[in-house]
Amino acid sequence: MITASGVAEVRSACDEARRAGRRVGFVPTMGFLHPGHRSLMRAARVGNDVVVASIFVNPLQFGPTEDLERYPRDLAGDSAAAEAEGVDLLFLPAVDEMYPEPPLTTVHVAGLSEVLCGASRPGHFDGVATVVAKLLSIVGPCTAYFGRKDAQQLAVVRRMVSDLHLPADVVGCPLVRERDGVAMSSRNAYLSEEDRRAAPVLFGALRAAAAAVTGGERSGGALRRLIAREVAREPRVALEYVATCRPDDLEPLDHLEGDVLVAVAARVGSARLIDNITLCIRDADVVADLGVVTDRPESEVLCAER
Ligand code: PAF
Repeated sequence: MITASGVAEVRSACDEARRAGRRVGFVPTMGFLHPGHRSLMRAARVGNDVVVASIFVNPLQFGPTEDLERYPRDLAGDSAAAEAEGVDLLFLPAVDEMYPEPPLTTVHVAGLSEVLCGASRPGHFDGVATVVAKLLSIVGPCTAYFGRKDAQQLAVVRRMVSDLHLPADVVGCPLVRERDGVAMSSRNAYLSEEDRRAAPVLFGALRAAAAAVTGGERSGGALRRLIAREVAREPRVALEYVATCRPDDLEPLDHLEGDVLVAVAARVGSARLIDNITLCIRDADVVADLGVVTDRPESEVLCAER
């Protein structure tokens, strides 16, 4: 594995790979890699000749009171993990390399950026869209891999790539869970022992929602109330929002039919956690994508079907 910190070096390595007819797969991350990130690298490894990953804690996507300074970092562990997953080129830019000057140009994906997490994190998705646009322009035409845990991020990135005709295919990969159902996140490192014990209530509530829909519930309002009730059983967890919406444009859904994203965000101690499931509802048939559990094969999607 080659590591590089310069934009020019990464651009020319990717150009050269493409000139030689090789497919480039790209996994952008902020590091502190966990099995969720590693599953993206594995997906990229399977589908491409050259795998590029980046680790960059992007200041532009953190609000002034957010956790930029304390965001967990582990460069040695991350390099070892990336190498073990077959990454060929690890891009580790410094802030000055990505932002030699404060950017006057940013990317705003209207509407999609303001709802759900965007409501309490103003500017966050502009920061994400801007850095992803920059990274895609550096790596060049490629297939880029994102986790479905950040469902809103995935929707924002997909729409940006489509609106700007960026030469990238965006692939959404399954959300990866710990054995007790907690969605994997670098920010889980902030959880105290008690908070970590409380955290599975979020997946428990989403699973109860999937069961209710499988049992015939089609009201978005009733589903959101069910989730709020389930989460309220755990006093350490403060629900920030629960949404039922379309996965691509995040339009709220009150009648549950077709593809439905059920998304939650909650404060657990000093951590802000997000989680979601996607339901595919066709009349009486329901397929629930609840994600995958970390120590099972990636292909084993937990399904509830009727
Ligand atoms: O999901 C993340 O880790 C980040 O938001 C991303 C996509 C790497 C952009 O900084």
